[in-house]
Amino acid sequence: MDTSTIVILDFGSQYTQLIARRIREFNVFSVVLPCTAPLEQVRALQPKGVILSGGPCSVYDKDAPAADPAVLAMGVPVLGICYGLQFVVHHLGGKVVAAAAREYGHAEVDVVAETPLFRGLPASLDVWMSHGDHAEELPAGFSLTAKTANAVAGIADEARRIWAVQFHPEVAHTRQGMELLKNFCLEICGAKQDWTPEHFIQSTVARVKAQVGGGHAICGLSGGVDSSVAAVLVARAIGDRLTCIFVNNGVLRKDEFTKVQKTMREGLGLNVVAVDAGERFLAKLAGVTDPEKKRKAIGNEFIAVFDDEAAKIFKAEKSAGEEVAWLGQGTLYPDVIESSSVHGPSHTIKSHHNVGGLPADMKLKLIEPLRDLFKDEVRRIGRDLGMPAEILERQPFPGPGLAVRILGEVTAERVAILQEADAIVVEEIKRAGLYRKVWQSFAVLLPVKSVGVMGDQRTYANTCAIRAVESEDGMTADWAPLPYEVLRTISSRIISEVRGINRVVYDITSKPPGTIEWE
Ligand code: XMP
Repeated sequence: MDTSTIVILDFGSQYTQLIARRIREFNVFSVVLPCTAPLEQVRALQPKGVILSGGPCSVYDKDAPAADPAVLAMGVPVLGICYGLQFVVHHLGGKVVAAAAREYGHAEVDVVAETPLFRGLPASLDVWMSHGDHAEELPAGFSLTAKTANAVAGIADEARRIWAVQFHPEVAHTRQGMELLKNFCLEICGAKQDWTPEHFIQSTVARVKAQVGGGHAICGLSGGVDSSVAAVLVARAIGDRLTCIFVNNGVLRKDEFTKVQKTMREGLGLNVVAVDAGERFLAKLAGVTDPEKKRKAIGNEFIAVFDDEAAKIFKAEKSAGEEVAWLGQGTLYPDVIESSSVHGPSHTIKSHHNVGGLPADMKLKLIEPLRDLFKDEVRRIGRDLGMPAEILERQPFPGPGLAVRILGEVTAERVAILQEADAIVVEEIKRAGLYRKVWQSFAVLLPVKSVGVMGDQRTYANTCAIRAVESEDGMTADWAPLPYEVLRTISSRIISEVRGINRVVYDITSKPPGTIEWE
């Protein structure tokens, strides 16, 4: 089945990914390409339509981003958004000028002509603007479709099938934005709403089957959402020719090593090799207090352990006549867009990858079944695969685990203390129904001792900080205003149940200027 595709050419707007997500919300597949993508690459995707995104530049800037103007004459409908409108005007012979008044924020737009883009929308639109330049003279063939009090807000050349708007339909502040995007994709481009979880699962499983053939694949599991969903998809395709490797790095959460194994094996039916390498990792962490050195030590040791296990698996396979080896990874679409890598089903592994540095003679090829998906889509796919909410709704947990939440040296004793405190935080946050409302909630063990009294005894023990933040994507965050009752329970439980902690404090730092983790 061919999926209807809308191509979005990215001129650098902070909202470009949002355009793709909005379109996928009504089940139409959309792909973001850099605006400099060659015409052949755009054509190869056989798009039903092309969207030109916004961008921070002026078309007159020396290094203004430009697409191949031939894209405007490809014969598929084009929608320019903000800078996209200015790009169209500038390249087709109109005139863009710096506006006297910059328009930023809410604006009211009057629709002044009938056009399929605005079909079913009111005559006055409540929109979000963010631009300095505006169109002053329209190119031949274009007519004005909408305006604000100050500027051109919409234009169209229906003969050439080019539409453009000066505002941002993709942001939630533009009330009728979704309707406008639907009008473009469904009515104007005729895209089918065939980007459904069921279709994604079927086509991905078929593709992985074809790729791997009779080969064998390995996959690193972290217990998190992405690696688990990726593994389940690959397993659907190749069954027990997938071996998952789950490493205990000594800084996992309390009971995590056993719990994850149980869920993956019993709940998801995965073939899991569990490697209890906690002591190896803790030995490498001895005496290390610098956060980056901790990350390096854990990263390097992970590669070493993973290599050892992968080598064992492939040795066994090779002796059974196995030649090609595959590595499954939970890479998501935002990483793909950011590294602007070329779309493709498989890539030879690069050394900078999470589990990079595998022996060259293994010639591992990557399977990245989630590389077209955003995080919320991964959860949707996971649900359709029948995976438990317990995995799909997990809060993010850093690769270096509790090591970056133990300030100062990481020792087995301090890991055990933090595991207990952390388990209480998670339990109480869940009990209060807040686990899914906050982005992350956890405990941090500080290298600070203070005096207390317990019963008749003087204590001199560690301080624990509680961190709970609200966030959309982890890039910015605000501390969560947890109810006092929840804080009170967490604090009293930690002090009475966790030997080694006699003081609990709450972190009220936002990001920026702080970070979510303490190291
Ligand atoms: P920061 O502390 O930078 O964290 O505000 C942002 C998000 O990234 C996670 N994080 C990490 N994840 N390896 C990871 O896999 C790391 O070294 C790492 N450091 C931070 C953090 O938990 C938060 O979700």
